[in-house]
Amino acid sequence: MSFEGKVVAITGAASGIALALTKLLASRGARLALADIQADALNKLVEDLKAQGVEATGTIVDVSSSTAVDNWIASTVKHFGTLDGAANIAGIELGFTNIEDLKNETWDKMIAVNLTGVMYCVRAEIRVMKRGASIVNAASLAGIMGRPGIGAYACSKHGVVGLTKTVAKEVGAKGIRVNAIAPSVPSFAFIYNQANSITAVQLRRRCSIDSWQARHHRHQRPRPTPTQVCLSREKVRLKRLPRPSRFC
Ligand SMILES: NC(=O)c1ccc[n+]([C@@H]2O[C@H](COP(=O)([O-])OP(=O)(O)OC[C@H]3O[C@@H](n4cnc5c(N)ncnc54)[C@H](O)[C@@H]3O)[C@@H](O)[C@H]2O)c1
Repeated sequence: MSFEGKVVAITGAASGIALALTKLLASRGARLALADIQADALNKLVEDLKAQGVEATGTIVDVSSSTAVDNWIASTVKHFGTLDGAANIAGIELGFTNIEDLKNETWDKMIAVNLTGVMYCVRAEIRVMKRGASIVNAASLAGIMGRPGIGAYACSKHGVVGLTKTVAKEVGAKGIRVNAIAPSVPSFAFIYNQANSITAVQLRRRCSIDSWQARHHRHQRPRPTPTQVCLSREKVRLKRLPRPSRFC
């Protein structure tokens, strides 16, 4: 699919999923407005893209600031003249904590970045987008199901799913699509970042649940344990979700 000339705004572009998306869209001709809080990585990325002939801007944006997000989207439209697509991918994961030990600061930070940040972005983007535009938000499998120790993260991602469904219905008639992705199996980096906050046993258990989910996707169902039966029921709901759509 060609993105020749399309203008796409991406948050969290300095690493992970958003970085991979940035490179993919760049290879397909998109013009990119990239945002992140990691200045060095973002600047290097934009330099590399420009050296390859890609039209790209890099802006330091903390998505939990409505002013920063509004200014970024306004300057993007001023620079490129339009906004065809947006991927609101920036997100954080602050380790595993059961509810009785969950700190107020952890909850507030998680909701501020993962949920309020996505809302700020979607709101600013919808205000300037025209018919045919498309938004994709980063939810998670944790936005559809629960797991011990991820209360704040799961609530933030459930919020992203609710926000996405609501806004999709608000702007669908205007020809703007809003979808969410729900990555399931964590990347090695994602697990590695959590390794300081959980025990080896917890990490192994989580990895085995994730690898079970991967096998489940391929219809190779091992004998279910109580946890797996629970996940299996969740999966029925997951299957009913609309498939993430593509840009434009
Ligand atoms: N990788 C996975 O396996 C996985 C699984 C489920 C959901 N997700 C979700 O997908 C998204 C991307 O995950 P990833 O693994 O690529 O993460 P990542 O940590 O590699 O990248 C996240 C990016 O967001 C940026 N960021 C963090 N806080 C920010 C803020 N306040 N403002 C702007 N940018 C900020 C970071 O600097 C980083 O570049 C996240 O929302 C995550 O919750 C990932």
